[in-house]
Amino acid sequence: MKKMKSRINICMIGTGYVGLVSGTCLAEIGHRVVCVDNDGRKINYLKKGIIPIYEEGLEALVNKNVKKGNLFFANSVKEGLHHNKQRAEAVFIAVGTPPRDDGSADLSAVEKVAEEIAKNMTDYTVVVEKSTVPVETCLWIEKTVNRFNKRNIPFDVASNPEFLREGSAVWDFLNPDRVVIGVSSKRAESLMRKIYAPLKKSPMLITDVKSAELIKHASNSFLSTKISFINAVANICEKTGANIDDIAKGMGLDKRIGSSFLKAGIGFGGFCFPKDLEAFYWLAKQKDYDFELLKNVKDINEQQKNWMVKRVEEELWNLSGKRVAVLGLAFKPNTDDMRFAPSINIIGSLKKLGAKVKAYDPVAIKNAKKVLKGVEFAPDPYSCVKNADCICLLTEWDEFKRLNFKKILSLVRHPILIDGRNLYVPQVMRKMGFTYKSVGRP
Ligand code: UDX
Repeated sequence: MKKMKSRINICMIGTGYVGLVSGTCLAEIGHRVVCVDNDGRKINYLKKGIIPIYEEGLEALVNKNVKKGNLFFANSVKEGLHHNKQRAEAVFIAVGTPPRDDGSADLSAVEKVAEEIAKNMTDYTVVVEKSTVPVETCLWIEKTVNRFNKRNIPFDVASNPEFLREGSAVWDFLNPDRVVIGVSSKRAESLMRKIYAPLKKSPMLITDVKSAELIKHASNSFLSTKISFINAVANICEKTGANIDDIAKGMGLDKRIGSSFLKAGIGFGGFCFPKDLEAFYWLAKQKDYDFELLKNVKDINEQQKNWMVKRVEEELWNLSGKRVAVLGLAFKPNTDDMRFAPSINIIGSLKKLGAKVKAYDPVAIKNAKKVLKGVEFAPDPYSCVKNADCICLLTEWDEFKRLNFKKILSLVRHPILIDGRNLYVPQVMRKMGFTYKSVGRP
């Protein structure tokens, strides 16, 4: 019997977060992957083993697979599709889909890439949409490829949404809760099944293309809803004296609800949730459905970002000239990503009120400098809190769990600690001498 070919030639277009992690991990599970980007500088760096993003385990995995001959980098779609005379059977589109001013997704990069693929493919190809895109984007990709496919090369379009989280992206890709594949032909299904066959432990869900596209939007919006819901309940806790930690635990023990994504805090950020929520709302509106719930989820999240500033004002009264030390800038731990980080809004408001802000983050300072102006950055948490009138904790980095609080108490001007991530035990902090406030806990 003829042995089924298990190593597939793949081209991954776009070496942003999703593209680089997905491409590298597809190489790791045994495929031959060429990652393409039109940013020549980025590709040159990658060829030298320099990774443009901070993601645990990624650098080692890139270098390992480059050495093994599983992973390559190229500058153009044309080169990516025929790298070293090896034709790509599956081409993944993982280019950026940034939000426009009205919240809808800008899909012009996806269109451009679809055109390039059409002009350069030479035999049956599965064009796989990997970026988070509105439902029916695959229809547009199909139309675009058809328009520029002058030689009538057979192709299929598939949707294969990615659910990886920053900070644990490599692990998430290799150990997904599910692999979702939206296809419209058996031929495309068979190729996609082969690509993901090595991830034996993860269930594979085969759907039609539109459903796969919607699964991604619905999942991210539902997770955002969970966070806004628990933040709203935390506000009720503050008004009633109940404890959000106990409530989240009590709710989470119900298997139908589940305990994850019920952590109250200063609101969700990052490049996915805010953007996807907006895009899903906008998409529903286009289809004549007012998905008002999503608007509420967004509003609660915006209000939650004010929580920190209100608490600081409650403690310091007038902020003009007061020194505020900010611990943590990234939108969550284990990433240097500052996109839509709540810290941007919070620091902006503190500064508007006249506060002098000094900030520290274990890895995000370089990116933070690009978006936060008029902020002093400290090289470590202790020089950050020196002479501070108040400390604001914005990201729950492990490093902050192990701080020397005695030393901190000796450095600050006033021992006020506002914990936006419920990282510490209130009784312990108060016993140490802090005026301590956290989210939804008495
Ligand atoms: C998210 C999705 O989890 C992932 O499946 C999708 O592919 C991309 O978007 P990511 O943005 O990396 O991943 O971060 P995630 O860990 O989901 O956290 C998002 C935001 O929600 C962070 O700002 C985090 O602090 C916040 N959050 C998360 C909470 O405030 N409470 C929670 O209980 C969980």
